[in-house]
Amino acid sequence: MKYPLGHNSWNSEEKRAAIKVLNSGFFTMGKHVKEFEKKFAYKFGAKYATMVNSGSSANLLMMSALKNFDSVLKKKNIKNPNIIAPVVGWSTSYYPICQNGFKINFVDVDLDTLNICPKKVEKAIDKNTVGILAINLLGNPCNFEKLEKIAKKNKLILLEDNCESLGASYKSKFCGTYGIMGSHSLFFSHHLQTMEGGVILTNSKDINDFLKSLRAHGWCRDLPKKNKLYKKSNDKFKDHFVFITPGYSVRPLEIEASVGLVQLKKLDKFMEIRNKNSEIFKKLFENKTWCKIQKQERRGQSSWYGFNLILTGKLKNKRQEIIRKLLKNKIEVRPTMTGNFLNNPVMKFLDYKTNGTFKNAINIDQNGFFVGNYPKDLNKELSFLYKILEKEAN
Ligand SMILES: Cc1ncc(COP(=O)(O)O)c(C=O)c1O
Repeated sequence: MKYPLGHNSWNSEEKRAAIKVLNSGFFTMGKHVKEFEKKFAYKFGAKYATMVNSGSSANLLMMSALKNFDSVLKKKNIKNPNIIAPVVGWSTSYYPICQNGFKINFVDVDLDTLNICPKKVEKAIDKNTVGILAINLLGNPCNFEKLEKIAKKNKLILLEDNCESLGASYKSKFCGTYGIMGSHSLFFSHHLQTMEGGVILTNSKDINDFLKSLRAHGWCRDLPKKNKLYKKSNDKFKDHFVFITPGYSVRPLEIEASVGLVQLKKLDKFMEIRNKNSEIFKKLFENKTWCKIQKQERRGQSSWYGFNLILTGKLKNKRQEIIRKLLKNKIEVRPTMTGNFLNNPVMKFLDYKTNGTFKNAINIDQNGFFVGNYPKDLNKELSFLYKILEKEAN
């Protein structure tokens, strides 16, 4: 590939950290995970972090905590609770909603930001709505000023799937800390790479304690002595196998956390390079008649997961041809995440409702795609992409 989608950001430091854990003979969740959680939470200005084995698991635990932890969801008497979510997102942002007994209440996204449209959220609220899932798409922050206002006014829980947008911020506050919980992914193509991995951030100690139990079999073992969920007996033998939540087994590995600790130290540098690439991207592709690029909210700072284009003007509805050309030129491309998720065969398994039209999602589904961004100078790659597209448009 001349312009691949992802890039390995490890060097000898990560490898050394991983080998050190291998040599220690202690592989399962332990001190490295604890240290990583502490440093990750500190870095992003949250009080607590729970590391898990993927961003998808982070979403699963988030929704499970919402369903099962009484003090999160106070509206207990709602028979068919629904959660409003943008129709362009990721599959495993949606599944845990239904898996935990909520209906997905889909709304369209904004064509500029590609994020959930606050006006449409307001219109979608009904008597059964309990929450809003904000997904910061491709590094781009949602409009949290509006979403927070709507959530507060309607007594809704705001949750964030920040799996694609680690390091992004809105009004100088990191994304992933606006919601009552925020999920993150540490998968290969993401901002921090620990092979596989995920993190949930929260400012609530009680929620964090609940998540710690959900993460590992629902047992009480990982809870601190002082907690509101379960009074430990002081008999370690007994407390080893006391089960207090309907949990899972989604623990991370020590190797992942040890690599995460190295990567976390490099994050600012990674972001600097990603941002520099974004300046090149904007300079080349902004204000063209044949494409539309993702716009940031006025007070948002994107962490530029990738570079999205929606074909317009002369190139509108020519995505198939364009993609063929790009692949022929060894440029790796992907659709704009799920596109219009409603088009997927999996919908027959899901409990959902729709609201209004999905004009923007349909357009994104037909004309959208993205190329990669990573901590490597992409001047040559982006210029190459531009040359091909410009030739097609003229
Ligand atoms: C928005 C979003 N949520 C969740 C996930 C799942 O993360 P993971 O691949 O770590 O399971 C992804 C994956 O890219 C994603 O883009």
